[in-house]
Amino acid sequence: WTKSALSIVVVGASGDLARKKIYPSLFALYNDGMLPEYFNIFGYARSKMSDAEFREYIASGLTCRLSNKDECGDKLEEFLDRCFYHAGQYSDSKDFAALSERMAAKEEGRKKADRIFYLSIPPSIFTQVAACASDAASSPSGWTRVIVEKPFGRDLESFRELSEELNQHLTEDQMYRIDHYLGKELIENLTVLRFANLVFEPLWSRQFIRNVQVIFSEDFGTEGRGGYFDEYGIIRDVIQNHLLQIVALFAMEQPVSLDAEDIRNEKVKVLKSMRKIDMDDVVIGQYRGRTTKGNHYPGYLDDKTVPPGSLCPTFSAVAMFINNARWDGVPFLLKAGKALHSRRAEIRVQFRHVPGNLYRNKLGVDLDRATNELVIRIQPNEAIYLKVNNKVPGLGLRLDVQKLDLTYKSIYNKHLPDAYERLILDVINGDKRLFIRNDELEAAWGLFTPILQEIEEKQIAPELYPYGSRGPVGAHYLAAKYGVRWGDIM
Ligand code: BG6
Repeated sequence: WTKSALSIVVVGASGDLARKKIYPSLFALYNDGMLPEYFNIFGYARSKMSDAEFREYIASGLTCRLSNKDECGDKLEEFLDRCFYHAGQYSDSKDFAALSERMAAKEEGRKKADRIFYLSIPPSIFTQVAACASDAASSPSGWTRVIVEKPFGRDLESFRELSEELNQHLTEDQMYRIDHYLGKELIENLTVLRFANLVFEPLWSRQFIRNVQVIFSEDFGTEGRGGYFDEYGIIRDVIQNHLLQIVALFAMEQPVSLDAEDIRNEKVKVLKSMRKIDMDDVVIGQYRGRTTKGNHYPGYLDDKTVPPGSLCPTFSAVAMFINNARWDGVPFLLKAGKALHSRRAEIRVQFRHVPGNLYRNKLGVDLDRATNELVIRIQPNEAIYLKVNNKVPGLGLRLDVQKLDLTYKSIYNKHLPDAYERLILDVINGDKRLFIRNDELEAAWGLFTPILQEIEEKQIAPELYPYGSRGPVGAHYLAAKYGVRWGDIM
C-alpha cells in the first residue's frame, strides 16, 4: 500500500524510436530489477491496436540478455502483461482523459501514483500533447514528468517559440530533455576520468592540449529516414546537440558538486564562452552513390524520400573556439558524417610537442605521431587509451608509439547498458544531471543558427563524397588550417 505505482506512457507508441529503443530499454530495466514493483506501460498513438497486438509489436523488437536464457520467456511474459495500448488523437483532451482513467484503474490501491510521458513524436505536436497530457492525464496524487526528444526546434527562434509554448503547460522541473549521447557509458565517465584522477586535470588546458577532436561517423546512409533527415541535416541532427554537449562536458570547469544544477551551470558557461562560428570554419558534404566490388551503395539523392536536388548536408566539420582562460586558441574540431568508411564516435585529445624533446629529430620520429594523444572511444568497442612514445625493446635506441589501453571489453566482463536505459532510470529517480537545460539549448542554437541560416539562404552546395569514403577533402584542409591532422583509428 505504501509503495507508489508508476505509469509510463509512450506517446508515439508505434514509432521507430519506441520499438528500437524505448521498449527494449524498459524491458532491460525490468530484467535487471530496476523498475518499481508496481509499474505499467501504456502505449498511446492514433492507430488502432489491441493490447495483444501492442504486446506482439513490443516483443518483436526485444532481445534477451539474461545469462540464463530459459528465464527470459517468463520475464518477457511478466513484462508484456504490464503493457497496454490506448488509441487516441494527439490533440484531444478527452482521449487523454480516457487514458488517464485506464491508468487510474491500474494504479488503484496505491497511496500515490507517479506518471511519466515519453514524447516520442515529431516536435510539431509536442505542445498539443504536453497540453492534453498535463490538463487531462497528469497524476492526481504523485509527480508527472515528461521526456522530450530532440529536435528542440530548428533554430534559435523556433526553439524559443517551442520552449515558451511548452512552458505554458509544464514546469522546468517536469521536463526532461533527452540527448541520448549523454547517457552513453564513456560520456558518463568523462567527468570521472578528469576529476577523479590527478594525472589528467592538470593537463586539461591550452598549456598542454593542442587540439580536441570530437568525431562521429556512421558507415551507413540515411536509408529510409531521408525524409526526416532532409528537414534537419547533420548539423542539427548530431553536431548542435550530441557533439556540442560532449564539448561542454569536456571543457567545463570542475562543478561545485555532482548535482544536476551545478554541472549544468558549468556546461552552460562553456557554451556561452564559445566564439561565434566563422563560415570559413565550416565544411559541409553530401554522400553520392558508389559501386565497389560489384555492390552498389546509393547516394543521398537516390533515397526516394529525399527531395530531388536537395542540398542537405550529410557531413559537416566545424572548428570551434572557447574564449576563456583555459581554452583560448585551442581548436575544437567537430566532425560528423553519414555513409563514411567506419562507424565510430570518439573524442581525441592531441597534446603539444614535448618541449626540448631529446629524441625528436635525432631518431627521425614523425613529429605529429610523437605527440601524446588521449582517445576516448565512445563506441563501438568502448575504450580509453593514451598514445605514448616508447622505446622499442632491444639493443639500440628506437622509439615507436604504443597505447596504454583501457579497452572495456577486455577489463569489464559485463554488458554496458544502452544510453536509454540509463536515461529512463534517471527520469524515474528524478536525476537531471544528464538532461539538457533550456539555457544550454538557447546557447547551442545561438551558436549554430547564423551558420545554418547562411548555408540555407545562400544555398551553399555541399561537397560531394563517395559512400564509404573518409568524407570531403575540405575537412582535411580545415584541420590543416589549424595545423591539425584528424586522428585515425589506431
Ligand atoms: C540520433 C540521430 O540522434 O543519433 C541519428 O538522429 C543518429 O541520425 C543517431 O544515427 C546515432 O545514435 P547512436 O547511439 O546509434 O550513435
